[in-house]
Amino acid sequence: MKITIIGTGYVGLVSGAVFADWGHDVVCLDVNQDKIDKIKEGIMPIYEEGLEELVKRIQKEGRFVATTDYELAMKHGELIFICVGTPSNQSGAADLTYVFDVAKNIGELLPENQYRVIITKSTVPVGTNHKVKETILKNSEGRKLDFDICSNPEFLREGTSIFDANNTDRVVIGTETDKAFEKMKELYNHLETTILQTSIQSAELIKYASNAFLATKISFINEISQICERVGADVKEVAQGMGLDNRIGGKFLNAGIGYGGSCFPKDVEALYRTSSEKMYDFRLLRGVIDANERQKHYFMEKVWNKYGSNLDGYVFGVLGSAFKNGTDDTRKSVALEVIKMLRGAGAKIKLADPAALENSKRDLGTIGMEYCEEFNDVFDKSDAVFILTEWSEFANINYEKMASKLKSKVIFDGKNLLNPKVLTDLGYEYHSIGRSSYL
Ligand code: NAD
Ligand code: UGA
Repeated sequence: MKITIIGTGYVGLVSGAVFADWGHDVVCLDVNQDKIDKIKEGIMPIYEEGLEELVKRIQKEGRFVATTDYELAMKHGELIFICVGTPSNQSGAADLTYVFDVAKNIGELLPENQYRVIITKSTVPVGTNHKVKETILKNSEGRKLDFDICSNPEFLREGTSIFDANNTDRVVIGTETDKAFEKMKELYNHLETTILQTSIQSAELIKYASNAFLATKISFINEISQICERVGADVKEVAQGMGLDNRIGGKFLNAGIGYGGSCFPKDVEALYRTSSEKMYDFRLLRGVIDANERQKHYFMEKVWNKYGSNLDGYVFGVLGSAFKNGTDDTRKSVALEVIKMLRGAGAKIKLADPAALENSKRDLGTIGMEYCEEFNDVFDKSDAVFILTEWSEFANINYEKMASKLKSKVIFDGKNLLNPKVLTDLGYEYHSIGRSSYL
């Protein structure tokens, strides 16, 4: 099939590359010339395992073209995917400026009398796809366009996105016509997964409801971690015991410093805004957001309790600044917020991250920061080490060997990555979340 992707970011680039890998003929468009130039040279604008090799291969095989040429992109795709960003605006609602810019361009440039499916993969509030249709028609200036709209939300996770795109738990296709559904089914039919046909509104809401539910699981276990600390239980054991119940499931029950990233915070807030606009007070969701906001402050209380609120003269090693493992993405990273609180109180920071150092330099600058290429360097004469991202690489560090490099053997583990017993047996003062028997 001939496919056009508009917006070559995390979702657009990965989806485009995977579709080309499935044998389709893909054009990926972006307005960012620098991004497109880099992709053409085989330099990826994001870190995602396996992406560089894949994009280099499909470009060489002639099935993937990156471009800024809207006319070319509009002529090309029988399926046209909108994958631009939908960040939060000041009120917390989704900012749809980029989506409607794209719809306007589609209206102006779509060829006449050639059937197209215009698919929104970006996460957008209910009703947006219909507004996209109106915007396209408004800008078509009377030309005879032949198209259907479709909502096909994306469920991939950063860090495992290529695997996720090939092994998705479900494909949701919201359309107004069977013709559009059949075209979309043709694209995904080879996957061994459920293809769910829904209305456009349901498809739009499935995406928000899914992210909000996952965020609810995280906030729930984070609240349980607070109870654990107060009653002497261990949240890892509690989560394991809960997760063994099939109806609950063990995934997304890792307590920590709270969820971050470019999606959960904005999508949960946007769903809350939608419900408020529709005169429904979604109190559970407000609780999820509040619990997430509080969680990093509970973690910081452990720091204030030990050192007081003035951290002048302290040097802290920090392992991790990405919002999660497997990515260089630092958007809405809770790790960055914690680093800023430590630095704001006067501490100097030595930071290491397997993929996110460049983005962290951009976000945190140089004042009070030392960026370490080697994990071991964050231990050098530090007063404590903080683990703020769940990279498995950090679990594999030889903490016994590192102990002699530290000024004091203290660890604050914001991701419950390490085994408290092992660390305390090595003589560490070990702080983590919801495991009260270990401080
Ligand atoms: P991103 O910021 O990485 O990429 C968006 C791209 O769109 C950028 O490269 C930008 O230059 C481009 N763009 C902006 N305006 C444009 C225009 N008018 N024409 C062409 N290109 C334009 O964003 P992302 O993380 O890929 O997210 C995209 C959407 O997918 C969002 O709605 C997000 O919520 C959703 N989503 C993201 C993920 C994820 O893991 N990142 C997963 C599922 C869904
Ligand atoms: C999330 C969803 O998992 C994807 O299905 C969805 O497509 C995507 O958002 C999106 O809509 O963009 P992602 O943001 O890449 O994917 O990362 P997650 O693995 O979901 O992690 C999000 C945050 O929650 C991270 O900060 C992570 O550290 C935190 N988290 C996750 C926990 O604190 N505990 C957990 O048990 C799981």
